[in-house]
Amino acid sequence: MNKKRILAICGSTRKASSNLNLIHAAMDLSTGVFDWQLFNGIDQLPHFNPDLLAAVPQVVTDFYEQLQHADGVLICTPEYAIGVPGSLKNAIDWTVSAMSFSQKPVALITASTSGAVAHRSLLGTLLIIESRITEDTALLVPAVKTKVSADHHITDSDLQHQVVHLLRSLSDMIEGASDLKYLPRPDLM
Ligand SMILES: Cc1cc2nc3c(=O)[nH]c(=O)nc-3n(C[C@H](O)[C@H](O)[C@H](O)COP(=O)(O)O)c2cc1C
Repeated sequence: MNKKRILAICGSTRKASSNLNLIHAAMDLSTGVFDWQLFNGIDQLPHFNPDLLAAVPQVVTDFYEQLQHADGVLICTPEYAIGVPGSLKNAIDWTVSAMSFSQKPVALITASTSGAVAHRSLLGTLLIIESRITEDTALLVPAVKTKVSADHHITDSDLQHQVVHLLRSLSDMIEGASDLKYLPRPDLM
């Protein structure tokens, strides 16, 4: 069976990012099922400006192509200042008119000190651009720094189980399993 192609996007641009370590842990847990690609260019994308859509910069085209090629996406991000990190929001804004996330199976992990506000906000954004997300592919991970090691092992057994469950759920969604609990699109107002 062909492996499912997953594009991982880290919302932190720090070299020693806990979110990046968590992505690598997720990769290690699922190498038999998923063929992973890490998009590590969010800090290379220009500031989104609708005027630039007339001649989309190459780095953005590359991002679009990686999204198009992916069967599913894993976003793993911290919260900054009770919100979504600007680099990640900028990357998502670039995809709106291209509809890159429309009908795309997505898993969202918000791994932060607390993270609840960014998690809720990102879910709203991803759902309004028609990502497919279920209750089982959205995970809030508070106190992430105490749960993932620098050599990308998950040191918290609850989190280990939660991540395995999330990855299985993402795989089920890509396969189009029935009885999935899709999160509804939020109202615009
Ligand atoms: C500028 C800045 C703002 C932050 N604001 C929040 C916040 O609002 N909520 C939160 O849970 N953590 C906040 N944090 C802490 C981050 O969640 C924590 O440093 C996290 O580990 C960063 O993720 P990373 O390790 O993947 O880079 C903030 C960190 C920075 C640098």
